[in-house]
Amino acid sequence: MKHTKVKDLLNSAVTLQEVNAKGWVRTFRNNQFIALNDGSTINNIQCVVDFENTPEDILKRITTGAAVSVTGTLVESKGAGQKVEIQVAKLEILGDSDPEKFPMQPKKHSLEFLRENAHLRVRTNAFGAIMRVRSVLSFAVHSYFQQKGFVYVNTPIITGADAEGAGEMFQVTSLPLENLPKNEEGNIDYKKDFFGKHTNLTVSGQLEGETFAMALGQIYTFGPTFRAENSNTSRHLAEFWMIEPEVAFNDLDDNMDLAEDFIQYVIKYTMEKCSDDLKFLESRLLEEEKSKPQAERSEMSLLEKLNFVLDNKFKRVSYTEAIDILRDSTPNKKKKFQYIINEWGADLQSEHERYLVEKHFKCPVILFDYPANIKAFYMRLNEDGKTVRAMDILFPGIGEIVGGSQREERYDVLIEKMKALGISEEELWWYLDTRKFGSAVHSGFGLGFERLVLFVTGMSNIRDVIPFPRTPMNAEF
Ligand code: 4AD
Ligand code: MG
Repeated sequence: MKHTKVKDLLNSAVTLQEVNAKGWVRTFRNNQFIALNDGSTINNIQCVVDFENTPEDILKRITTGAAVSVTGTLVESKGAGQKVEIQVAKLEILGDSDPEKFPMQPKKHSLEFLRENAHLRVRTNAFGAIMRVRSVLSFAVHSYFQQKGFVYVNTPIITGADAEGAGEMFQVTSLPLENLPKNEEGNIDYKKDFFGKHTNLTVSGQLEGETFAMALGQIYTFGPTFRAENSNTSRHLAEFWMIEPEVAFNDLDDNMDLAEDFIQYVIKYTMEKCSDDLKFLESRLLEEEKSKPQAERSEMSLLEKLNFVLDNKFKRVSYTEAIDILRDSTPNKKKKFQYIINEWGADLQSEHERYLVEKHFKCPVILFDYPANIKAFYMRLNEDGKTVRAMDILFPGIGEIVGGSQREERYDVLIEKMKALGISEEELWWYLDTRKFGSAVHSGFGLGFERLVLFVTGMSNIRDVIPFPRTPMNAEF
């Protein structure tokens, strides 16, 4: 008999049918009631074991974590909490689990403990829910862009260009580290390396993405990116997934419209498809909030927060306005910020971004027109000669979730900027070609996928929304 997913059994309108379910035992109560989960839904199906007719040695092996197959009749449940249950006729232990040693006991575990057991934490309600939500969100990303006719582009993960300046890079080499070949000047001879040159893991697919946008019109990437910054925060990973749309003929306003519409779509889509998981995550968050002091508790529940983002336009504020607000803010005057804002030109830290979003505007904010010298070389210079057409989207509880810009499409201006920053023209010859042959206004942005998953699941540490996090000093699994 083929087994049926627990999700389908729980939704089944037909009772009194013979069914088979396979999954892992979450709990076994009173030698009689198995709560069985197979990952298809957060909900378990109750399986009622005929304990009088089941051998003692089988009953003993029904322990938390064991894999079992149950065959029996799907019946309406008399107990509270579930509509249907399985009256078990035949129970087979597929894989035993040592109840003394299985780490995922049915009790509350700390998130730190669960991180150390990332291979098993997905068997808990919370991590099952997070990973299903993550999967649906990534499908929503493709669904949004595909519906709009964007072309999905797989930009390279190993790159020869290290000029983007988005962060420190991981080097890729097949040279023997204990015996590096040297050239005549005594430097490492990368001509002998695998690619015949110095290569890294990519920090972003943008530059390659731009070349495709200048042919295909609207493109997006969705792939892994790597940053070797030593940022041990709850918002940074060394390996994370980024979504980067790039659109020919879009200016910065179009870019903001696209980002806002896109974020609202993927959140709405996920709320429709993952209601059980999100309800669970909402109650988890409520529980967690109870242990916080009143002042730090969120005013909104998870679903209220998500609905708020759907129902409200993001507030668009220039960097210059933001600096004025921050300079006059109470935490700045009382020197509560770690980095005090004194003058125009200061780079914004996450404390400032979160003040703007959480305390001042109390809604998602798009900051635009940043000082040129705190942003990347490829951003379009404004007429004022000192700001660029950059935009960052800031979210409550997260800070920066999106970074993007209108790109500098003027060859001369771009070259001058690269010269001033010492960025090699030889290395980026192919990028410059887009400005030589049919250059046009274009814009794009990058959304950090895990930061989006953080927001949607209400989790507070980015290590808890990616299956196996990579962070400084940690690459277990
Ligand atoms: O702002 P960033 O560095 O922008 C770029 O890389 C551009 N090339 C994007 C573009 O215009 N196509 O990164 C984009 C987003 C950030 O807003 C943040 O959400 C996320 O990527 N991000 C990280 N997420 C997790 N861990 C890290 N270390 C991250 N660094 C950036
Ligand atoms: Mg950024």
